[in-house]
Amino acid sequence: MERTLLMLKPGVLQRRLAGDIIKRIESKGLKLVAMKMKQLDRETVRAHYAEHVEKDWFHYLEDFSLKGPVVLMIGEGKNAVVIMRKLAGATYVADMEPGTIRGDFALGTTTPDNCLHASDSVESAEREIALFFTEEEICPWTDPLEGWM
Ligand code: CDP
Ligand code: MG
Repeated sequence: MERTLLMLKPGVLQRRLAGDIIKRIESKGLKLVAMKMKQLDRETVRAHYAEHVEKDWFHYLEDFSLKGPVVLMIGEGKNAVVIMRKLAGATYVADMEPGTIRGDFALGTTTPDNCLHASDSVESAEREIALFFTEEEICPWTDPLEGWM
């Protein structure tokens, strides 16, 4: 089954929003099969956002990513990557649709920060999951709804 790496970014815990955001992910039907909190370090941020390291705004993203602990999760389900990208919403606040997680919990109208990371492809998801989770930290469980749809 397809998996995607989800990260509640710094600020979410401080704003007491973790439960609200996780609720939306569960309500969408994704299976959460791993979850933990972590204070990221520079090396991990650079590995996670490898495609952005050379961008002129990377230092901003790096500092933001280190501001406080994140909540890391693996969501599982058919088309989990595309479903979570839609549920997360657009990157920039002016493009975020109401009803999306980023759109409803924006950090303001000017910063490029947003509250949730969701892998952008199956390949990215595999790379990001391997970066943040060991196999032992993943907890598959039987879904009683399997076979109903
Ligand atoms: O997260 P997403 O895949 O939607 O966007 P991205 O283009 O891969 O950028 C990754 C993250 O970098 C964004 O979610 C923002 O938090 C941050 N970013 C930034 O700080 N400044 C920008 N100009 C663009 C993105
Ligand atoms: Mg991206």
